[in-house]
Amino acid sequence: MTDKVPIITVDGPSGSGKGTISQLLASDLGFHYLDSGALYRLLALAAQRHQVSLDNVEALAVLAAHMDITFEMNPDGGPPTVILESEDVSSLIRSEDVGKNASIVAVIPEVRQALLRRQQVFAREPGLVADGRDMGTVVFADAEVKIYLTASAEERAKRRHKQLIDKEESDSLAALIDMVKQRDERDQNRSVSPLRPAEGAILLDSTKLSVAEVFTAARQEIRNKLNI
Ligand code: DC
Repeated sequence: MTDKVPIITVDGPSGSGKGTISQLLASDLGFHYLDSGALYRLLALAAQRHQVSLDNVEALAVLAAHMDITFEMNPDGGPPTVILESEDVSSLIRSEDVGKNASIVAVIPEVRQALLRRQQVFAREPGLVADGRDMGTVVFADAEVKIYLTASAEERAKRRHKQLIDKEESDSLAALIDMVKQRDERDQNRSVSPLRPAEGAILLDSTKLSVAEVFTAARQEIRNKLNI
């Protein structure tokens, strides 16, 4: 189809580097960027602010469909600024607490359904790079280019450990490896949209590759498939 907006999906577990790679690709191509994980994080934060309990499925689905959110693109290719009800919550949504609650709301089918359309509207000219867990399998199942980025649990825990040291929050590496493995288990075995490579996705393992090497491989795949 010639009139379709080109879409590149980048899925994988947290810590695989898909946010960094997706932002670099979007910036290089001049495409829009969707950080779908931020939507789940925003919902978790909005629920906390509006005192919606995490087991109130109906209220969470309504909030997911109607929460007032804006993403402001960063022209330099960095993370977008994330606005919830006129407030810049870009850092706030990255906290461990919000992340944990995001993973709780993300298993609710009604929530995923409510967020589906809100994700799909990001597909606009000249194109989209969509980063998440189910971009290639569900949200943009007919995307032209699908990338599945992974890395060993140990390597992902090490990256997280380094980030926490930089933020001066400590956690032992062993505990982090354990946490990463538990989260993988939950993500891969949940009944709705489990984390798995989409059919036709190229698999990239960033355990022993630099950001530049992963970017080059992903960029080559886009060139092969889209001729851009
Ligand atoms: O990528 P992240 O850590 O920002 O994602 C936050 C949570 O949202 C995480 O628990 C996984 C979930 N998520 C999801 O279920 N589907 C997506 N497409 C993106 C994120």
